[in-house]
Amino acid sequence: MRRQARWSEIPPEPGSAGAGTESTESAGPGSTDPESTASASTGSAGSGSASTGQASTGPASTGPGRAVLERLAPKRQVPRRPAPGPPPDEPGRSDCEMELVDAAVTYPGAVPVRALRPVSLRFEAGETAAVAGRSGSGKSTLLNVLGLLDRPTQGRYLVRGVDTALLSESGVTALRARQFGFVFQSFHLLADRTAAENAELGLLYRGMGIWGRREAACEALVRVGLGHRLAALPGTMSGGERQRVAIARALAQRPRVLLCDEPTGNLDRRSAEVVADLLAGLAAEGLTVIVVTHDQQMAESMGRLIEIDDGLVTERASGKQAGASLADAAHSSPGTIQTGKGR
Ligand SMILES: Nc1ncnc2c1ncn2[C@@H]1O[C@H](COP(=O)(O)OP(=O)(O)OP(=O)(O)O)[C@@H](O)[C@H]1O
Ligand SMILES: [Mg+2]
Repeated sequence: MRRQARWSEIPPEPGSAGAGTESTESAGPGSTDPESTASASTGSAGSGSASTGQASTGPASTGPGRAVLERLAPKRQVPRRPAPGPPPDEPGRSDCEMELVDAAVTYPGAVPVRALRPVSLRFEAGETAAVAGRSGSGKSTLLNVLGLLDRPTQGRYLVRGVDTALLSESGVTALRARQFGFVFQSFHLLADRTAAENAELGLLYRGMGIWGRREAACEALVRVGLGHRLAALPGTMSGGERQRVAIARALAQRPRVLLCDEPTGNLDRRSAEVVADLLAGLAAEGLTVIVVTHDQQMAESMGRLIEIDDGLVTERASGKQAGASLADAAHSSPGTIQTGKGR
């Protein structure tokens, strides 16, 4: 049976040193050092009893005569245990931001849908990737798994070394909130809230005060070039501006990874270019960006191109090649096909 990971095993916020470092072992500070083990064993019976268990020889080992016994008996070699180090799921053990290991998604039903076939993929911090493929090929499914909106039905998904299958629902929710920012094709803005209010929506459950939220939201809006539209209502903004508010809403949470599902799908050419430039700029600043897109320019600005066909993931080009590859795909396979169904 799988162990439920504890809250402490969720990767900490960047910069919050020491968060979540509770070990799964009860190794005390002295337990790795034979010297300190010996000295702990000669101390009071109550202290260090767990760490001295290894050298314990019975009741006398904790009694007052122990020091004498130790002097008389030949010195026992306490086997040196390897330093406990971080527990297997502790962040910092992996320099990988996200890793799928033979992960697959099958939607259940009368006819199960294999939306994502087993795939192993790694994303290092700061990497950027475009995800391309025909409609129904599994792009959103992949993005949803990466963003912890869905869990793989097979295989494993690790976020900064943490096996997400070991997390409880609340652990997944917390990790998702601090790790990922989402941008969708539809902007999902509240019509009766200003740009600033919309941008701070994601911070409402972070326990931040109103001014902290407002400051983060305004900073994010400035970052996407909308510092002059803080008080604007979505209805008074262009599609491209609304999408930039949605991006600001994601950025205000200071995510490590930005996941975008066809962010320019509803935009005209010019607005799409602005949003594509913005995402490329964020990527250049070091944010990990993964974007599902049919947009050649967008794909060209990303470091990797991941293609999906009928749930099967392949990776074969990057940068400019990615754009060329997308253009080829657009010429050779126009229209929508049904994939991944019936198997
Ligand atoms: N909740 C679900 N239940 C059953 N099948 C689903 C579900 N969600 C998606 N699918 C199916 O999984 C396959 C992949 O869907 P997905 O949404 O990932 O495709 P996509 O590449 O994002 O398509 P599009 O470009 O149209 O957004 C499709 O066949 C789809 O019908
Ligand atoms: Mg989709």
